[in-house]
Amino acid sequence: MDKKLRRAVIAGNWKMNKTPDEAVALINEIKPLIADADCDVVACVPYVDLFVAMEAARGSNLKIGAENCHWAEKGAFTGEISAAMLKAIGVEYVIIGHSERRQYFGETDETVNQRVRAALDNGLKVILCVGELKDERLGGITEEIVRKQTKVALANVTEAELANIIIAYEPVWAIGTGLTATAEQADETNGQIRKVICELYGKDAADKIVIQYGGSMNAGNADELVARYNVDGGLIGGASLKAPDFAAIVKAASK
Ligand code: PGA
Repeated sequence: MDKKLRRAVIAGNWKMNKTPDEAVALINEIKPLIADADCDVVACVPYVDLFVAMEAARGSNLKIGAENCHWAEKGAFTGEISAAMLKAIGVEYVIIGHSERRQYFGETDETVNQRVRAALDNGLKVILCVGELKDERLGGITEEIVRKQTKVALANVTEAELANIIIAYEPVWAIGTGLTATAEQADETNGQIRKVICELYGKDAADKIVIQYGGSMNAGNADELVARYNVDGGLIGGASLKAPDFAAIVKAASK
């Protein structure tokens, strides 16, 4: 097996941070620092920032994504945004199933699957998040949890469509806590997710799918994490809001 089968992806998840003006300033700061990146670089930003973010990123190697999308094409879903709407304004990526959506907004494996389906149907690239809670890791059921999340999220997704799916393994206990999974833990769980993909779609698909790690990844620990065979980049929260830190992670993934 050859890691060169996969190109690493570093994606920022800005969460509920940055006004449009602040978004443009941050993107202008990031752009020159990542100009020679040898990996794909994405910034997933709040809905209201998407338009100006795409404008600011135009002509650079920074791609822009959203942080969620609804499964319906349109309709009476007050406050929601459809995948078709994102596609219509030129958005390329969308995060789906982030643990904060699961924890605070009632997202389930089933609604994650519906959103994945809608995103793929509308030609978006999906960053699908899976990951266990602290008690689940302590209880020794991490593999069981990520297997189920991955399988349900990918129900009715074909092998060809997998080319538009990135999986982000994000242990919930490591998100925004300063606690990072060790490189061994990240590699092991990412490997378990790759095994599920192999069971569902075969070895070729498993070798090709990009599986990121996310959870307090930063300029100091990125090198060790992305050096692992099964860690194909990262989904970065806090550190993606600081251009030099984000750029250092991009550099680590470019080696
Ligand atoms: P963090 O967030 O890097 O701040 O831990 C990661 C994420 O939630 O995607």
